[in-house]
Amino acid sequence: MIKLQDVSYVRLGTRDLEGATHFATDFLGLEVSERAKGTVYFKSDEREHTLCYFEGDPAEQAAGFEIAERDDLSSAAAQLEKLGHDVHAGTPEEAAARKVRDFIAFKDPSGNRIELLWRPAYSGKRYHGMRDAGITGFSHIGLCTTNVARDEAFWTQVCNARVSDRIGDAPLLRIDEIHHTIAMFPAAHPGIQHINHQVESGDDVMRSFRFLTERQVPMVFGPGRHPSSSAKFLYFEGPDGMVFEYSSGVRSIADELLYRERQLSFDPAGFCEWGSKPEIPEFQK
Ligand SMILES: [Fe+2]
Repeated sequence: MIKLQDVSYVRLGTRDLEGATHFATDFLGLEVSERAKGTVYFKSDEREHTLCYFEGDPAEQAAGFEIAERDDLSSAAAQLEKLGHDVHAGTPEEAAARKVRDFIAFKDPSGNRIELLWRPAYSGKRYHGMRDAGITGFSHIGLCTTNVARDEAFWTQVCNARVSDRIGDAPLLRIDEIHHTIAMFPAAHPGIQHINHQVESGDDVMRSFRFLTERQVPMVFGPGRHPSSSAKFLYFEGPDGMVFEYSSGVRSIADELLYRERQLSFDPAGFCEWGSKPEIPEFQK
């Protein structure tokens, strides 16, 4: 069993590093933690970085998950190879570029590049966003799946994720008490489907709705409230078509024994209890 501790970062290729940096700082509200050749690192919480844009093909994406022990990397690699996944052992240079001590990389059954990492860097320097978006931290990702049942089995049987709720057949998966850290959405292709940052309050969601609308950032869903996690949310489009989300008030599942997963409908009402309708292809039938 691969024991995922947390989602640590997302890495995104872009042809327009300056444009992506402008969006990530002036619109999304992240802080540049470091600029290196062809790479910009962004901070959203106490960690050294939680988002990295690098010069490259926007199809080059990776999501990094922290594991607890270095030995877990070798046992995970052995388990993944046994299941037929090609596993890449990170070089010291690649680990340094991710600000981790060690990592391995592989593709999940849909073809999403996943990195398992050990000892990500934390920073003593407090996160201070370029605008006051109220961000409290990077929290979860949406992942495209080309076969929901197969991928749910991968994340829940090979890894330690558990189903919190389902929207249609799409599972919202938790790896700790937070309602979901990975949200799976059926698609014809792999890819990171959305990137979530938590904000302090519903007021922050509404402030950003106004701020981003005035600046012609395309709104793709919300403001609304998820019946699954109970979070108030806003989804909007960033560079290279990537969807970003702010949300506040995500449910915490403190008692595993008392919690039962729920089935929600794969329609606008299953995604939003305020009546907002998604303009996100993966959220539509
Ligand atoms: Fe989300």
